[in-house]
Amino acid sequence: MKRYIPVSRVEGNASRQAHCDLPEGTYEREMSKEGFFGPAAFFHHRHPPTGWSDFTGPLQPRAFDLAKLPAGAGGPWAAHEALVNAHCRIRYWRLGGSMERLARNADGDDLLFVHSGRGDLHCDFGHLGVEPGDYVVLPRGTMWRIDCASPMELLMVEATNASYTLPDKGLVGNHAIFDAALLDAPKLDAAFTAQQGDSRAWTVEVKRRNQVSLITYPYNPLDVLGWHGELSVVRINVRDFRPLMSHRYHLPPSAHTTFLSNRFVVCTFVPRPFETDPGALKVPFFHNNDDYDEVLFYHAGDFFSRDNIHPGMMTFHPGGFTHGPHPKALTRMLKQDKPVTDEVAVMIDTRDPLDVADAVREVEWKEYVHSWKAAP
Ligand SMILES: [Fe+2]
Repeated sequence: MKRYIPVSRVEGNASRQAHCDLPEGTYEREMSKEGFFGPAAFFHHRHPPTGWSDFTGPLQPRAFDLAKLPAGAGGPWAAHEALVNAHCRIRYWRLGGSMERLARNADGDDLLFVHSGRGDLHCDFGHLGVEPGDYVVLPRGTMWRIDCASPMELLMVEATNASYTLPDKGLVGNHAIFDAALLDAPKLDAAFTAQQGDSRAWTVEVKRRNQVSLITYPYNPLDVLGWHGELSVVRINVRDFRPLMSHRYHLPPSAHTTFLSNRFVVCTFVPRPFETDPGALKVPFFHNNDDYDEVLFYHAGDFFSRDNIHPGMMTFHPGGFTHGPHPKALTRMLKQDKPVTDEVAVMIDTRDPLDVADAVREVEWKEYVHSWKAAP
């Protein structure tokens, strides 16, 4: 733990509890270190911090409608790149039919999130069915392919030159949010044995330094008869998550951390009850998240803090960009008309700045920066 310079102070007309009991008519903005985990200050503003009348320059927030990207015939390495840095590569993959080649990533672990469609994943470790809402972690070096039962759309997040791990769940212990017993691993079952009967030649697309090499075998190399060890592909579905919440405190996004890599985190927002305490915020607080770039992929439901966002879209908020609820959501800051949130979204927060890839510029919603404009 770093030794930050210690300050604890209350100035002017201020609440002494973050996200609660704001002075009448004010809007709270958090400025913090280490995402939402380090020292922070909470400002009470007279105006919503997103009330800009003009905004120019590269700090602008971006939104992309990934569902509008064209479907491709290729494997995962032909998927559309969306946002990239040296430690994280985020792609959107529209898989129209079963993979004709095997894939292997020599650059890092891959995380698949199934947005739509279903199929069967066959890999070195065996067979695993995949369906919407599934996360699948593919350790670096795994050889795999998907047989589609229907066309699929997948978000892919590569932990470049790194691994995926689970977060420390601190005071609530390791079995909170989801129990490790819920992580499914592939099985050497009848479906896996059946695919071994395929006698045709197979090509493996191996990606290293983001370049693809092709290795062809005159047989099917997914031919293991058995294996043992403590490393495998794992799968978990978002319906198995039991999110942390407090009826008296709006928890920060870090409470919803699902996977960690060296230089980014993956969090999942799933339905949960709204806070009920009269003084507690019922929408996200305004913040700059100065240490992280924030990416949000909207999977399903009604995105309670955002207007004009639908499933299959991705928003990108560069670190240092102040954001918070849209004006319509802000009217429900202290009183929601529904008992629970109804959204499933995947958040990727990266410690290093991301670059926008060319492919997604084609499906950009350019007016996103102005979407906070309506008066609350
Ligand atoms: Fe944020």
